[in-house]
Amino acid sequence: MKTYLITGGCGFIGSHFIRHVLENSSYSSILNLDALTYAGNPLNVIDIEENYPDRYKFIKGDITDEKLVKEIFSQNEVDQVIHFAAESHVDRSFDDPMQFMKTNVLGTTILLNTAKEFWQKDEWISKRFLHISTDEAYGSLSLGEDDKFTENSPLKPRSPYAASKAAADLLAQSYFESFEFPVIITRSSNNFGANQYPEKLIPLMILNMKKEKTLPIYGNGLNIRDWINVKDHCKALLAVLEKGQVGEIYNISGEQEFDNITLVNMLCEIVASLTSKTKDHFKRYITFIKDRPGHDLRYTMDCSKVQNETGWKPSNNFMKDLTGTVQWYLTHDEWVRSCEFSLQKWMRAHYDL
Ligand code: NAD
Ligand code: DAU
Repeated sequence: MKTYLITGGCGFIGSHFIRHVLENSSYSSILNLDALTYAGNPLNVIDIEENYPDRYKFIKGDITDEKLVKEIFSQNEVDQVIHFAAESHVDRSFDDPMQFMKTNVLGTTILLNTAKEFWQKDEWISKRFLHISTDEAYGSLSLGEDDKFTENSPLKPRSPYAASKAAADLLAQSYFESFEFPVIITRSSNNFGANQYPEKLIPLMILNMKKEKTLPIYGNGLNIRDWINVKDHCKALLAVLEKGQVGEIYNISGEQEFDNITLVNMLCEIVASLTSKTKDHFKRYITFIKDRPGHDLRYTMDCSKVQNETGWKPSNNFMKDLTGTVQWYLTHDEWVRSCEFSLQKWMRAHYDL
């Protein structure tokens, strides 16, 4: 039996990853350490609790609580740490950078240090600390630039969120360089799918269409993101854990680049096709608003390394997966209601609409 300590497992990607591991590897058990911030939702793991009572345990707690993290390591034989917990929303990092530094940098340090303290050196060959990082750590490409970010590109983060992730990423690398501690780092592009807190572009747009509310697009809507289905991302992470090399970094993307206005137009079309309204009915809600500070234009990564070393490839079903995602948000009212209170508070504070 392999025990995975998952941090941030009640969030978007972490909850999908727990389900993926439990479904695909019978000799595994999960400890999910999550502080249940506004982004952590117990409904994201309710089916897991029901379906795997013997292989899944939830621990409510903060990764910056060193005493608790030490207790977890002393009371459990942890084999692998998969570290998702973070403050993840760029827009919030402009208002509260300190919280981003605390969770993303200090929290990561405490986890790395505790794992290093509790794991005996002769066991490191079979241990893994997978640090989940982001393409945003590389900074931004300009429009005509052909270059893609490779794993060797310098880190040039441009928001407090990205800077905190880059700092944590470098710290994780330093544990391999200084101690040969078995760290692997992945840097992923924008994920989409069910259970994403609706402050993020895709769920925000779908739910605002449902509520017949403004669709706020920053700047001119020409910023580009590369989208990956969250389930594809989870498959890549498990492949990296099984076949990746310690000390290495792996870029992971879906190779599906769209500018924001094109993507929102696609969402208008999909929502229209699933309701009795027309695409133009939703498009009239599109409103261009003040741009995000230092808004990164584009991140494009070369992902050949993960594909060559693990055999993983993105599934290439973008429209089908996006339609399934829209369907999910339109039909999961209880989940949507569970986000409503914190979301409305954020929307009022952030959007001047
Ligand atoms: P999320 O915001 O949906 O979830 C974060 C989870 O971490 C929540 O459950 C929250 O309660 C928990 N958490 C936050 N602070 C904590 C703390 N101090 N202690 C314990 N738990 C805490 O995030 P996500 O979108 O699932 O992202 C997961 C990871 O993947 C993050 O590290 C993020 O930087 C990275 N990432 C995300 C994307 C994306 O598109 N969403 C892309 C690349 C990388
Ligand atoms: O690239 C990976 C990153 O993707 C992750 O590291 C982050 O955790 C994750 O939040 C995501 O960051 P983005 O800033 O790219 O995601 P977001 O959904 O906030 O925005 C996507 C694009 O849409 C971005 O160009 C900003 C734009 N946008 C976003 C919102 C919320 C709008 O135009 N209007 C909006 O209201």
